[in-house]
Parts: sequence; structure tokens; C-alpha cells
Amino acid sequence: MSGELSPIDKAKFVAARRAADMVENGMRVGLGTGSTAAWLVRCLGEMVREDGLKITGVPTSIRTAELAREVGIEIVSLDEAKWLDLTIDGADEFDGELNLIKGGGGALLQEKIVASASDQMVVIADKAKEVESLGAFPLPIEVIPFGWQTTQSLVEETLISMDVLGRTVTVRMDGARPYITDEGNHILDLHLRRIGNPRQLGLVVNQIPGVVENGLFIDMCDTVVIGYGDGKVEVRDINEGTIETDRIDFVESDNLFKDLSE
Ligand code: A5P
Repeated sequence: MSGELSPIDKAKFVAARRAADMVENGMRVGLGTGSTAAWLVRCLGEMVREDGLKITGVPTSIRTAELAREVGIEIVSLDEAKWLDLTIDGADEFDGELNLIKGGGGALLQEKIVASASDQMVVIADKAKEVESLGAFPLPIEVIPFGWQTTQSLVEETLISMDVLGRTVTVRMDGARPYITDEGNHILDLHLRRIGNPRQLGLVVNQIPGVVENGLFIDMCDTVVIGYGDGKVEVRDINEGTIETDRIDFVESDNLFKDLSE
């Protein structure tokens, strides 16, 4: 079954598999969104069903909630959990300081709130997500629907004075209509190519009326687990300054590898 996985999916899977081992009995765990996080949810589901792992999950999107339920993870809202031991999520880009761009899957708002309410944030990613400086991946920002075109103009104007290489802003579409997030908002994608000062950009963008949140996660991620297509994983901890390598064997399991919807 694992032979059907592409190298990129194998890399995502091994990163998720390794991160799942960081989850301990009794933990309250933030469950990220996206194709890598979906592997994590499946791995945790298997640990719940087969090893008796007891955890409470807080999903970061409707689709993660559905998957978590499907694989047998007990889920609660963030307000019920109040504070989390650990959040594990994917990323669109990470740099050497483990600053991130997230939101390619449109869930950045809940992802940021959940990660902010966690003792620890672990990012799981394939090696291709590592960049020297953030910005090649378009930066998503969530904006409220009211006057979103005016908000877009204000964002474009703001970008003129920012240290970025590109300044094109597009609204994310879902067919013929602007995409709608789980919170009922729209997403603007900022095609910046390189972000000179991510911290400053994140603060400035969030000052614009109509902007709810941006996809820059600065000083939030503690650990990144990087997966490779050959089963190698690298665990980098920014606080400890450590890098460990490991290898994950593919254990073929019908439950884990069938029908991955993301
Ligand atoms: C979801 O909104 C995003 O933040 C994802 O975490 C990010 O896009 C990574 O997704 P993949 O794991 O699918 O690459």
C-alpha cells in the first residue's frame, strides 16, 4: 500500500508519524489542517484505536474535525479545552528561525488561535517547505467580506512601503466566487516573492481595518519535524538548539493508507 504513495506523501507521512510519538497520554492536542496534518490525525487515530492512547483533540477546521471524528479521536472546542499541551500542524513555508507562512488551506485563523493557546507548537513538513527567507509562497490574509475590495486596496497601498519584492494581491476564489473560510471570511493572497521583515509586515497588515489575521507565524513554532521521501526525518528544536535524525519504517496498514481525502 505504501508503494502507492508519492515521495512527497511519504515525506509528509513520516514527519507526521514521528510527531505523533511526541503525543502522550492525557494530552490536549491542537490538530492542524492540510494534507500533512491529515496524516497526523490518522496516525493519532490509529494510536487511539490500537494502543489505547487517551487524548483530547482541538481541531483547527471543520475538515480536520470531521477526519478526527472519523478516526476515533475525541474532540472538544478550544473553549472547552481552554489550554493545550501541544499543537501539531503543517506549514506552507518555514525559515531557519522556524517562522512560518501558513494558510494555504484557508484555515490560518483557527490555526493561529489554537497554536497561541498551546504550550508547544510542532510543525510537520516535507523538506521542500524550507526556505531561506519567507515569501515565495503567497502570504494569505483573512479579511471580512464587508468591503473586502476596499480592504484589498488598503493592503496594496500598505505594501508600497514594505520590504517585499512583489506587491500583487489576489482574492482566493472558489469557482466563480471568493473562497469562504470556516469563519465566513475571505482570503487575500499576497504575492510578495520575498519578505524582508516578516515580523514588521505581520504587525502592519493586522492594523488595516477589515483584516482579521495574517498567515505569518512568528516566534510560535518550537519544533519542526522535516520528512524526506526515503523515510528519513529530522527534528529541529529551536529552544534547545538541537537537531536529531531518525528513520521511520513504513508499516503498511489498510486503515491508515486508504482513502486519504486531502
Ligand atoms: C492550512 O490552512 C495551512 O496552514 C496548512 O497547514 C498548510 O497549507 C500546509 O498544508 P499541507 O500540509 O497540505 O502542505
